[in-house]
Amino acid sequence: MSLHAFFEGEFVPQEEAKIGILTHAFNYGTAVMDGYRGFWNSGRDEMFLFRLRNHFDRFLANCKILRIQVAPTTDDLIGIAVELARRCAVKQDLLFRPLAYKASQSLGVRLHDLADALLISTTDMGPYLPETGVRCRTATWRRIPDISVPARAKITGLYVNNALARAEAAQDGYDEAVMLSENGHVSEAGPANVFIVRKHRVITPPVYDDILEGITRDTVISLARDELELEVVERPIDRSELYVADEAFLCGTANHMTPILEVDRRVVGEGEEGLLTAKLRGLYQEVARCARPDYEHWCTPVLGRP
Ligand SMILES: Cc1ncc(COP(=O)(O)O)c(C=O)c1O
Repeated sequence: MSLHAFFEGEFVPQEEAKIGILTHAFNYGTAVMDGYRGFWNSGRDEMFLFRLRNHFDRFLANCKILRIQVAPTTDDLIGIAVELARRCAVKQDLLFRPLAYKASQSLGVRLHDLADALLISTTDMGPYLPETGVRCRTATWRRIPDISVPARAKITGLYVNNALARAEAAQDGYDEAVMLSENGHVSEAGPANVFIVRKHRVITPPVYDDILEGITRDTVISLARDELELEVVERPIDRSELYVADEAFLCGTANHMTPILEVDRRVVGEGEEGLLTAKLRGLYQEVARCARPDYEHWCTPVLGRP
């Protein structure tokens, strides 16, 4: 497999993309990241990049928060992403990681007077969590609030918060952590947004509960409303609502959709993937692989075959 990266303005074999040890972002976490997937569709002999425009719109908006300037427009980034996927030339799913970072070889905590750079790396990483479902633990680490470091900005340094929570969960024998906001509401999991189902209503934390404004979250909301005609509510969720939910699941680019089977040793619903979760997961898989014509506008072809 020939994985490539976009690095210092060029497409290079990934092993050749290297940064210096004094790189500002490496020392202080001053970078904005994103992640999008390329799904291989064998029937059409094509790779589709899922919701690429949305990912790059978010990425550029987040760059603004960290005062990073890497590319003038989303369209420039889309052009780079398509070419990068084409150069990888593989017939399998890929995960791409754009990173806009403070690139100066310079110590000193700040955002100003530093050079910015763009990197897009590639991995063949599969689903991040077991697809059959996960057992979660409420983290003792609170989600970092927007007034300290904005979670919506997907800043690399902020992920220490997620790492602390996930390490705690793993060490206690759980698959994943659910973090609470400072005011005690369910915020999100380590790498994913949280949904519950109660009495046929699909509920997810609002954007003001210190979450990343997930693109998979947005996809799930659209599919639940438009395809399953379900009521979707964005409102604060109490920790104990996780325990009494009929169904619960996590969603994100890295894990796709993952049923939550248990939280803090309380079985959620029947302790297996719920009916609505399964329906949504099936729809998501079809849409992401460009197998549903109504959603083709979300899928950017890499090879451009008719
Ligand atoms: C903390 C966090 N929440 C949620 C998500 C899901 O976001 P998306 O669906 O855009 O991948 C991610 C993944 O990037 C994440 O890191």
